Amino acid sequence: MKKSLLFTSLLGLGLFIGSCGTPKEESQEVNVYTHRHYDVDQEIFDKFTEQTGIKVNVVNASADELIERLVSEGEQSPADVLITVDAGRLNRAQSMDLLQPIQSEFLNNTIPSEFRDPEGHWFGVTYRARIIAYSKERGDVNLVKSYEDLAKPELAGKVLIRSSDNVYNQSLLASIVAANGEEKAEEWAKGVVANFAREPKGNDRDQVKAIASGEGDYAVVNTYYIGLMLTSENEEEKKAAEAIGIIFPNQEDRGTHVNVSGVGVTKNAPNKDNAVKLIEFLAGEEAQNTLAGFNFEYPTNPNVKRDALLDTWGDFKRDPINLASLGINNEAAIKIFDKVGWK
Ligand code: FE2
Repeated sequence: MKKSLLFTSLLGLGLFIGSCGTPKEESQEVNVYTHRHYDVDQEIFDKFTEQTGIKVNVVNASADELIERLVSEGEQSPADVLITVDAGRLNRAQSMDLLQPIQSEFLNNTIPSEFRDPEGHWFGVTYRARIIAYSKERGDVNLVKSYEDLAKPELAGKVLIRSSDNVYNQSLLASIVAANGEEKAEEWAKGVVANFAREPKGNDRDQVKAIASGEGDYAVVNTYYIGLMLTSENEEEKKAAEAIGIIFPNQEDRGTHVNVSGVGVTKNAPNKDNAVKLIEFLAGEEAQNTLAGFNFEYPTNPNVKRDALLDTWGDFKRDPINLASLGINNEAAIKIFDKVGWK
């Protein structure tokens, strides 16, 4: 814990221990740039070190900062592994040529193909569903069964969703572009904007709170936030989450949009073998069990059980689209958001 803090502060000074001036030979360490900032990740890195003797050096920053940093460091980058959430970001890193393809029989056999880049530039470690939360008091589950239904005129003034600069929404719209084509996706986005309960603001949790306070009846939210709110020590959050039910959209057709927390080996990784070992460890049952018991994300390793709270929501059909196409359709999604005035 202390070590990673030290790293973060040294990073601010533009320093990186263990790499300054060293040529590209493999040492018994691996340097991780991560957007995730959970204690559970450090716990897993510690286990990895215990079992392999490979030290894990962690740099925490926002995904945008990490990507910017990888660009500016170029070939001199000490980073071996990039961890971030949302395939949209992983695809962005890939399209900027910041990741290298990895061939690992273990990863290919363990992680379902829709959760990894077909060329091996990145691998999903956990996944989450972007569901529709509805007011138990005022919502109608017969009226809203799909993302498409959010554009129904009956929902005028009832829909809550965060802004379009958020990558979760960009990836959701990218999945709708992939499923229905750009024209239909634009019509949909226009319809949703017409149904806004308010101008988009706040994060996913704020949309749930806005249902509880009566500002709207339906909200688009990632599943783990509902889990975190239901188990929160903050009474307001807990009450808000208890006031909503969950709709897994599009169960009668393509399935619910899901996305990953994922990981890839950086283009210029000085410790590539160790990077692959770490990613394999993250996909293995021990780490997946730890990840599944935290944060209410679904493990991508199908041999690992999800958290019991997620069992109460039951099984659901996932949109089987390969998440790499979310990156391909990201630009189209952003254009549509701009065009329809989704702030
Ligand atoms: Fe999130």
